Amino acid sequence: MNNTMESILINTAHALMADGKGLLAMDESSPTCNKRFAIYDIPQTPEKRRDYRELLVTAPGLSEYISGAILYEETVRQLTSTGEQFVDVLQKAGIIPGIKVDTGTVDLINFPGEKITEGLDGLRARLIDFASSGLRFAKWRGVFSIGEEIPTNQCIEANTQSLARYAALCQQAGLVPIVEPEVLMEGNHSLDESSEVSERVLNSLFYQLYKQRVLLEALILKPNMVLPGLDCTDQKSVEKTADATIECLKRSVPAAVPGIAFLSGGQEGELATERLNQMNLKYGSRLPWPVTFSFARAIQLPALECWKGEAENTVAAQTILLYKAKCNSLARKGQYVM
Ligand code: 13P
Repeated sequence: MNNTMESILINTAHALMADGKGLLAMDESSPTCNKRFAIYDIPQTPEKRRDYRELLVTAPGLSEYISGAILYEETVRQLTSTGEQFVDVLQKAGIIPGIKVDTGTVDLINFPGEKITEGLDGLRARLIDFASSGLRFAKWRGVFSIGEEIPTNQCIEANTQSLARYAALCQQAGLVPIVEPEVLMEGNHSLDESSEVSERVLNSLFYQLYKQRVLLEALILKPNMVLPGLDCTDQKSVEKTADATIECLKRSVPAAVPGIAFLSGGQEGELATERLNQMNLKYGSRLPWPVTFSFARAIQLPALECWKGEAENTVAAQTILLYKAKCNSLARKGQYVM
């Protein structure tokens, strides 16, 4: 990678972390998007997915709160109802377009209950194609379940090595990698167990990024917050979870990383916002990196529920989307009040 490319990538990473802004993850795979549509009886068709994504990217004033949007490949290939490319609509709105490039998870052979993310084969050529379509960053998600004897070191190593190889390929192609290691919330594990696993995963990740010679200054980390499992009876306060998350990140994420943008991971939307707010309120400028959001569910779900697949609800759904984006933008600054 030459110096010009390096500075382009570093500038993009900083623009994604712009003050008061975060990312909109709208990169649900078609099966995941369909599952969410099914809840509201919305037809599960490419056209409806297109209409929904169009509603999101054309919400007026979205760029006040959103620096970048992560698209799904289907959306990149579709045109809006006015015949425009989604990438162009985002660029005109002042939002940096990005794309999810992993192809999803499959069972990790010999390791029951664990997954490996696929998508490295042919990725180099796909990334060149995406960069020439105007996309400026790319996301890859690895997942880790907590349970009896899992995650294993083998699962952690396999997934973090894939994340590092994808990140190296992204930077080579001129795309900022959004590196997403997600410790899942499903299970009855405690806050301490979540913290211990998250730290193991992040340590392995940064070791692998180092080994693959990835430029830390030109990536964004997209981690889970450190939280007790959804079925844990000892749910902790917003303060405790924010403290545990920051402690874990401070122990494992080098200061050279330009920013951290959390996934919401199925937390109740309001809680995700409060936890992010608490981290910025209490630690804010004392942290080595800015912390913001890269939420899908925690921003989108109320808008989807309002839309219900009906054109007449589009404006109301966009108003709700903007409201949720604004709340999280305030949380990014530690200024959110319920
Ligand atoms: P959630 O915020 O719904 O977890 O989605 C973020 C994401 O990009 C998952 O890969």
